[in-house]
Amino acid sequence: MHQPAQLPLFSRFTLLSTAVFIGALSGCKAPETASTGNAATAGNTVAAAPANVAPAKPYTGENLVIGLYGSLTGSTATFGTSSQKGTQMAFDEINAKGAPLDKKLQLVTEDNGSKTEQVPAVVLKLINQNNVLALLGEVASSRSLAAAPIAQRAGVPMVSPLSTNPKVTQVGDYIFRTCFIDPFQGKVMAKFARENLKAQKVAILTDVANDYSKGLTQFFIEEWNKTDGKIVARESYSQDDKDFQAQLTKIKASNPDVIFVPGYYTEVGNIAVQARRLGLKQPLLGGDGWDSPKLYEIGGKAIQGAYFSTHYSPQSKDPKVVKFVGDFKKRFGTIPDANAAVSYDAAYILSDAIKRAGAPDRAKIRDAIAATKNFQGVTGTISIDKDRNAVKPAVVLKVQGNEGVYVTTVKP
Ligand code: PHE
Repeated sequence: MHQPAQLPLFSRFTLLSTAVFIGALSGCKAPETASTGNAATAGNTVAAAPANVAPAKPYTGENLVIGLYGSLTGSTATFGTSSQKGTQMAFDEINAKGAPLDKKLQLVTEDNGSKTEQVPAVVLKLINQNNVLALLGEVASSRSLAAAPIAQRAGVPMVSPLSTNPKVTQVGDYIFRTCFIDPFQGKVMAKFARENLKAQKVAILTDVANDYSKGLTQFFIEEWNKTDGKIVARESYSQDDKDFQAQLTKIKASNPDVIFVPGYYTEVGNIAVQARRLGLKQPLLGGDGWDSPKLYEIGGKAIQGAYFSTHYSPQSKDPKVVKFVGDFKKRFGTIPDANAAVSYDAAYILSDAIKRAGAPDRAKIRDAIAATKNFQGVTGTISIDKDRNAVKPAVVLKVQGNEGVYVTTVKP
């Protein structure tokens, strides 16, 4: 049976109270005894594991209680709300058909307000107070990176549906994801810009408060540098910024053919509006962080004609997708975005692993998730590789009206 990778100086202290513990955490500087297992490779450092997280209590729940931590409010609110809807729909379908181990899947959700610094408290609450069997989340890579060392130390399997930064699953052997990673996504968009759009000169506008944005920038550049294309401007902002005029003015002066903006939908929508106001007419490009119905609302006319890579197209004619989109629309009245779709798949994968584990035992469930092969999801066939990632194709969508219209699929 698999045990959580042993971290140095694993503390056996039980938390007296989450509040006291969080006080210790919020000092920002990581405890010196903390370790994150494997070292990260892509730019930033992985959040250090708090030293005094205790192993989770053995699972005794009557139902299968699964904790979802996400952004239900704040600047990335649709990430969490869509993810929750997709997960709940999957759980309800599974419960109706007969959930694993003759129990019921029960979802407990915690909101982190789109704030990375709120993640440790909500994840500790799910582990210590709700005694969850496993965790689903987060969508945003920085927030998954804040949770993963805690889940790893507690020995609670964590499946991030949509965090694409490579470092997330490098935290340890209890951490998985059901999506592709950003070295692939960066390559997809660099190639798309050079080959499909014939761009020669690219400007890049990066959210430097965001591990996803920094990583995707790096991987885009690595691929771009293999072409004869030039980078004519590199500018930055921080999540929750509202005014991008200084950066956009410099980008305008560099006269790029395309502008790559690997951020999240709220800032991207505002960037598009301000870019058009400044007279920039070049196409904007981005990644999966754009995938939200709010992008079209905030970006309006300014975001029309932009391209982004993501995990699936709701317009696909694949019968599995057609059924999923139809059921989701019937239940929630909206078209499911990538967050809803991949979270739906992640919920099924976790349930399938619990069934194969044969017991509500976290170590066995970890092993079963790791052994996932050829799972037929709505977002493609999912196999978990040795690095605990899924290898899947990406799609490129073009913004037209209030939706992303399918352009192409890129296989890994
Ligand atoms: N991939 C993004 C990240 O790692 C999260 C995301 C995925 C956002 C899909 C929207 C849609 O931060």
